[in-house]
Amino acid sequence: MCGIVGYVGDQQALDVVVEGLRRLEYRGYDSAGVAVVADGALASAKRAGKLANLEKALGDKPLPSSTTGLGHTRWATHGAPTDRNAHPHLDESGRVAVIHNGIIENFAGLRAELEDGGTAFSSDTDTEVVSHLLASHVAAGSDLADAMRSVCRRLDGAFTLVAVHADIPDRVVAARRNSPLVVGLGDGENFLASDVSAFIAHTREALEIGEGQVVEITANGVTLTDFDGAPVDEKRYHVDWDASAAEKGGYDYFMLKEIAEQPRAVADTLLGRVDSDGQLSLDEMRLSDDELRDVDKVIVIACGTAYHAGMVAKYAIEHWTRVPCEVELASEFRYRDPVVDRQTLVVAISQSGETMDTLMALRYAREQGARVLAISNTNGSTIPRESDAVLYTHAGPEVAVASTKAHLTQLVACYLVALYLGQVRGTKWGDETRAVVRELADMPGKIDQVLETMEPVRELARQLSDATSVLFLGRHVGFPVALEGALKLKEIAYMHAEGFAAGELKHGPIALVEPGVPVFVVVPSPRGRSVLHDKIVSNIQEVRARGARTIVIAEQADEAVVPYADHIVRVPVCPTLLQPLVAVVPLQVFACEMASVRGFDVDQPRNLAKSVTVE
Ligand code: AGP
Repeated sequence: MCGIVGYVGDQQALDVVVEGLRRLEYRGYDSAGVAVVADGALASAKRAGKLANLEKALGDKPLPSSTTGLGHTRWATHGAPTDRNAHPHLDESGRVAVIHNGIIENFAGLRAELEDGGTAFSSDTDTEVVSHLLASHVAAGSDLADAMRSVCRRLDGAFTLVAVHADIPDRVVAARRNSPLVVGLGDGENFLASDVSAFIAHTREALEIGEGQVVEITANGVTLTDFDGAPVDEKRYHVDWDASAAEKGGYDYFMLKEIAEQPRAVADTLLGRVDSDGQLSLDEMRLSDDELRDVDKVIVIACGTAYHAGMVAKYAIEHWTRVPCEVELASEFRYRDPVVDRQTLVVAISQSGETMDTLMALRYAREQGARVLAISNTNGSTIPRESDAVLYTHAGPEVAVASTKAHLTQLVACYLVALYLGQVRGTKWGDETRAVVRELADMPGKIDQVLETMEPVRELARQLSDATSVLFLGRHVGFPVALEGALKLKEIAYMHAEGFAAGELKHGPIALVEPGVPVFVVVPSPRGRSVLHDKIVSNIQEVRARGARTIVIAEQADEAVVPYADHIVRVPVCPTLLQPLVAVVPLQVFACEMASVRGFDVDQPRNLAKSVTVE
């Protein structure tokens, strides 16, 4: 969602800010704006639509030279995505400019109060109240950081706020509550941003901003306090990837690049997690073996693609550890009065580490006494910070809104957690664990093999580009793969797509099958539980008998499916539980090609945001 950049230093602020916004485009937005402090005044520009619209406006009417500025890409919540509602929002005198991510829940009351006092508003946003409030505090003698603290104490809801003032040319002030914000520490320059990708081309040194904190940056200093002005400890960290990792590297889309990076991402996520005896060692987990032995139930919470990884985790955890495992959409979890106590291990999966639904669910779980283990791809993000333990995936930056390599690494992390629980609790023999770990280590090579054979899948997407609906079926771990295939197609190709547990077909969804409808079927290994394989072969026949065009994802040498498949996509032989790591890849490639053929923006689909920071 909204992207935020602030800068103070010796470079042209506008260049730094616009470049930062470009790197944050992947978060999803519908308008953009900037403001700089120059010659005792503010200059700003904002436009609905893509960053290119703003750049054109800046080309037509350049802003003055300045080394202090801020910029914003807005994902509309309050008020339509128009020029008028784009950020920054200035106060009536034009002395304060504010950008905001999140929702100010009590804005209506504050707006009414300000309007009663004679303030005229120029937008429909919740944000604008902050500009007017900050201006009045500064006019009454507060410095900008003090003003920010006073205003924040009056606000309800979630927000990152960043402000500059015309009378204070050398500093940018920001505040954070339940919404992402990091500081980039440069040499004679400092940055503020929603995430490190905005400033990674300038510095890899970063500073976390905690909940309920206000930060003031100048070219040579950073001051951090809580909302009452008390100093707080700084937590610095080094970002272990560089600007090139966040670029397209010759691919047409980030999604294509990220699909191609999956073998490496999976290998990196396994790296360093197995000792020389083949035992898993997840030291960074910060949960003791005794705590893990105490666990009597696991609940996985996550959203979207991460939720699908969580569904696979359930199969692995229950099979390898015999501990009951529930999987819950994070947005539903805290509203159903779940049974959670000190012996519950909650696993919160989030690529971004900032998803508000997941964050709120994990806070609820901790309040009930549960221990929370985060699986995240983003160092320093809120969800790992607020969890008792963390297992980082090593996918590197994922820019395309449609998650691919982060998903595969989430699957790997789920397998590692399940195996580790089994190892600690003694439900798996050492040699069994070692065997699975060896099979996991083979998966990058197998994903590579799948990637090398994807041209027929792309061709199929081209043939099916006029389809009005696509169905996906799976059983066991193939069911979440089917859901993931459908989600990918919906989010980037804007096609009606549904994933079903194949056994549920006859209970309703089979009514959707009509002649020619493409149906993908994820077939488990025939070498696993044969009943599972046989049942799904019957399901393929059922849809084919009704005229469906069947596209079967099956293991090499699985001949039983051949008579019923209009198209076969072969995946390498691997254990049933690990099959999602290869079976989901053709579905990602299919969706990516479909979106491209249909002429849509593959990396930044409409209405979607990469980091969903509102509930
Ligand atoms: C994935 O393709 C989606 N864009 C989306 O479902 C995503 O997985 C979900 O919003 C959760 O995000 P997170 O992993 O950052 O928490």
